[in-house]
Amino acid sequence: MVKLEHSKDQMAKSLKGKDFLTLLDYTSEEISYLLDYAFFMKQQMSHGEMPKLLAGKTLGMIFEKHSTRTRISFEVAMIQLGGHAMFMNARDLQIGRGESVYDTGNVLSKYLDAVMIRANSHEMVKELALNTTVPIINGLTDIFHPCQAMADLLTIKEVKGTLKGLKIAYVGDGNNVAHSLIIGAVNMGMDVFISTPIGFECNENILVEAKKIASISGGTVEVVSTPVEAVTNADVIYTDVWASMGQEDQVANRLKLFKDFQINDALVAHAKTDYMFLHCLPAHREEEVTASVIDGPNSYVFQQAGNRLHAQKALLANLLCDDL
Ligand code: CP
Ligand code: NVA
Repeated sequence: MVKLEHSKDQMAKSLKGKDFLTLLDYTSEEISYLLDYAFFMKQQMSHGEMPKLLAGKTLGMIFEKHSTRTRISFEVAMIQLGGHAMFMNARDLQIGRGESVYDTGNVLSKYLDAVMIRANSHEMVKELALNTTVPIINGLTDIFHPCQAMADLLTIKEVKGTLKGLKIAYVGDGNNVAHSLIIGAVNMGMDVFISTPIGFECNENILVEAKKIASISGGTVEVVSTPVEAVTNADVIYTDVWASMGQEDQVANRLKLFKDFQINDALVAHAKTDYMFLHCLPAHREEEVTASVIDGPNSYVFQQAGNRLHAQKALLANLLCDDL
């Protein structure tokens, strides 16, 4: 029988029924506990133990954008936990032809036990959360991707054995993935170095919040001017696509403006020899990262993608299970 190291009683109570919109709403202790719980569930699964903690529960999954990992890992998570997941393309719902978020939220609360939503606008997701009585989970918005950050941290902890004191470099677009990663990493006491092209910086308010968290957690957040500065002696190097979903019309322009921010062999030579390369995927080889790096020995991107399942099972169990 696999045992959870962390005492869970108090924590499971504090998380029950909560929304998961951004890691800014979660304490370092809660994040750390959820990571331990994810690791525990992953170990349980490898021993053939799969408790049906969410039997009879239904997760609604609304998508305004494409998805492979988020959609499939949430659906599999619910199946493994004994519950059910329902995919909904936002275009097919009445919200896609103008029904209000208020009415939609109130109606969904009558059928579902939780809603996971991938949306264009974080503001819309906040409004939905205000108008539902069940937990809302952010499956990516224009500003945040907290489920991704949980899998990222889980992967680093699995490989390195710890998070505190590690140097992580984020190089590329100051986007949704970057924001959640920065907040999660600094909460765990990591030293975060960020290098983004001019005009594509991270959201200033999020950086201010990250620095406040750093002063408590013992981590650091530094925006540096070059990718080399960011990755020098790094334990972890992270990048994401140069043009996110919805920015397809900017691809050509971004390819030009981001070219010095590519993760390639010359750049990673500045990192520690045992550095980890991470990418949320989907990736564009020879754009933000060369094949030599993403398909090389320091890349953990598929372990990272696999960990979406375990991180989300931990989240779902803690938000939804009546007697965890
Ligand atoms: N990383 C991630 O969220 O992937 P999908 O867009 O495929 O869900
Ligand atoms: N920044 C990317 C992440 C995809 C998982 C996007 O928003 O498209």
